[in-house]
Amino acid sequence: MAGFDPIEAFSLKGQVAVVTGGGKGIGRGVALGLARSGAAVHVLDRDLAAAEDAVAMLKAEGHRARAHHVDVGDEASIDAAMATIAAEGSLDVLVNNAGLAIRKPSVDLSVADWDAVLKVNLTGVFLCARSAARHMIANKQGAIVNLASIMGLSGGGLYPNISYQATKGAVVNLTRALAVEWAPSGVRVNAVAPTWVRTDFIKPLTDNPDLLARMNAMTPLGRIAEIDEVVGGIVYLASPAAAMVTGHTLAIDGGFLAQ
Ligand SMILES: NC(=O)c1ccc[n+]([C@@H]2O[C@H](COP(=O)([O-])OP(=O)(O)OC[C@H]3O[C@@H](n4cnc5c(N)ncnc54)[C@H](O)[C@@H]3O)[C@@H](O)[C@H]2O)c1
Repeated sequence: MAGFDPIEAFSLKGQVAVVTGGGKGIGRGVALGLARSGAAVHVLDRDLAAAEDAVAMLKAEGHRARAHHVDVGDEASIDAAMATIAAEGSLDVLVNNAGLAIRKPSVDLSVADWDAVLKVNLTGVFLCARSAARHMIANKQGAIVNLASIMGLSGGGLYPNISYQATKGAVVNLTRALAVEWAPSGVRVNAVAPTWVRTDFIKPLTDNPDLLARMNAMTPLGRIAEIDEVVGGIVYLASPAAAMVTGHTLAIDGGFLAQ
């Protein structure tokens, strides 16, 4: 392709990126990765203090960043933030990262628990993608990366987590369907499926030495992942280096799904 440098294409210089749940954990790492790749980064989180803390970290490195108080279950707050961001120029990248798990035996899971997880992990992903895509389609370009999970592509096995597994499986196929629908508009949609990643999200699991040993043993590479080990795959899918990749779910799983 004329003028396409495959290595320069890893850069996000001049682009504007949005990360949901970017205040902590994987999202915070992704926000930093996107910023170091050259993007201005908007951190959306329902925990405004966490978002502001992440933004302070980015600014301390000289990056452009802003915090927004957004709950991905709240359509109005999403649309308002996306419109503010897009009105300033462009909205090029969305990382749908905010997520929730309620790990209980399925027979004990209430409808309220079920609904809470669906609202964040599935409706939230749809609402944020829909809102961002309205601006991306108008610009005829954009990249969306959704956080799925190995739990969306397997039955798990170590502990019950049905609403999480159902929603992450749905994210994999939502990713395919939106990729196909929006490809003619120049918007790519991909996902990543990480193995367990050491964050507060799984602290109740990793604090249990027996369970952690079994999680490590279930992973061919023999250990769970660190945040920085999933950032690169997400930044790659967000970047023009992945110009011909859409509808794909990239496993970042130490071989878990290869078994
Ligand atoms: N940690 C893992 O083992 C792992 C593995 C695979 C996939 N994932 C996925 O990666 C994503 C991030 O997980 P993490 O481990 O970094 O979690 P985390 O709990 O460490 O951080 C999640 C962040 O999202 C924010 N958030 C939660 N609900 C929100 C909402 N409704 N609106 C806006 N912000 C919200 C939180 O305030 C927090 O800042 C999730 O989608 C999770 O399902 C995590």
